[in-house]
Amino acid sequence: MLSHMISDLDARHFVHPWESMEDLGASGRMVTQRANGIYVIEGDGRPRIDGPGGMWCVQLGYGRQEIGEAMAYQAQEMAYFSPFSSTSPVSAQLAAAIAQRTPGDLNRVFFTTGGSTAVDTALRFVQFRNNLLGKPEKKIFITRQKAYHGSTYLSASVSGKERDRNWFDHADALVHFLPDVNPYRRPAGTSIEAFLEAKIADLEKAILSLGADHVAAFIAEPILASGGVIVPPEGYHRRCLEICRRHDVLYIADEVVTGFGRLGHWFASESVFGMVPDIITSAKGLTSGYAPLGACILSERLFEDISGDASQGAVFSNGFTYSGHPVSAAAALKNIEIIEREGVLEHVRALTPHFQKRLAALRALPLVGDTRGMGLMGCVECVADQSARDPLALDKVVGGLIDAHCRDLGLIVRPLLNMCVFSPPLIISHDEVDQMFDILEKGIRLTTDDLVRKGALVA
Ligand SMILES: Cc1ncc(COP(=O)(O)O)c(C=O)c1O
Repeated sequence: MLSHMISDLDARHFVHPWESMEDLGASGRMVTQRANGIYVIEGDGRPRIDGPGGMWCVQLGYGRQEIGEAMAYQAQEMAYFSPFSSTSPVSAQLAAAIAQRTPGDLNRVFFTTGGSTAVDTALRFVQFRNNLLGKPEKKIFITRQKAYHGSTYLSASVSGKERDRNWFDHADALVHFLPDVNPYRRPAGTSIEAFLEAKIADLEKAILSLGADHVAAFIAEPILASGGVIVPPEGYHRRCLEICRRHDVLYIADEVVTGFGRLGHWFASESVFGMVPDIITSAKGLTSGYAPLGACILSERLFEDISGDASQGAVFSNGFTYSGHPVSAAAALKNIEIIEREGVLEHVRALTPHFQKRLAALRALPLVGDTRGMGLMGCVECVADQSARDPLALDKVVGGLIDAHCRDLGLIVRPLLNMCVFSPPLIISHDEVDQMFDILEKGIRLTTDDLVRKGALVA
């Protein structure tokens, strides 16, 4: 079918995530037909580097025949089983494979359909557990501004990206937001050390003012991904865990983005941030985007006082028709096998300094206010005025302009307002990292010229 015909069907029938009501029915979304390695091939037939790696998920790149074959085999052997009443070899093996790679005693895996449902499951489990423990009032979740945890009612309720909250209802009575943890946005004259202390104090003050008896859990992405790759100050997560422990508050690490190699490890919580949370949520890179799957991974300890003799006959009535779907599990098992066989985690660790060096070098450009990142994750934040750090004046326009220039030059950026975020397939090579940042730099320079020409920036 021709590209314009697909666009027409799409515009009339496909309601996309984050669909703009203003543009509803207007065609013009790019049609992506094929992809290979780190390249996506759009309607015009030109390969472009996939800067965002799908949606932070295509760890092994596109066109992996082995994963396709494993999925096809499983679909023919047994496409589906009911996880409510039976199990399947691949799903049970995958649960064990995940448990082997998680820190501490996080050995209980609840499969879901994606990241939102993994977060939702984590939050529901915490509520369920506290009810069983006779603490029905211990229900508040502490989360952070700029966090993104998903699109179910509960996971959206703990998400703190302001614009996404407009026009929706949320479970506000259950949620408390902590202020922004972005070091770039710290008050002028505040050192990183003082900022860290302030952020730790924010958490403890919140627990004390809400009352530890009312706070169930703290949920945090190790690096706030779609909030703009916000890397909190060194020691932040470890210190937050200490505070949580002190007040009997559970720690949920949302590793939907940071897990499965993005920071060079299966999970980042312990290997990168030196802490073992109570619950980890995972999705995306778990199958490298080849099939939908999520996992809520729980500490053994959380079950000790609510199971067996202590269970009171309770059933954790939460789950999905497709929990642990065999075809997705087959994709995930093959994904893990390839990551290990090809040394992808080692590759990410070896490539990280070069990736981060190229990213940091962009800070010299006048349009760039901040660059930040970790592992193969990065963000370039554009500002109208570097000293004022004002993102608002440029907002949507600047990201769109950079994206358009980069697409012409062979790179997909898919910006978030005034920010360009990067999480390319983990198999990207040293030279391809150079190509990616060369194009980005050129795209930013061309955008600067456009803005100067329009009078939006002073040369
Ligand atoms: C940190 C984090 N948690 C949860 C989610 C939700 O995952 P999904 O879109 O698979 O439901 C996302 C998605 O971007 C995410 O970045």
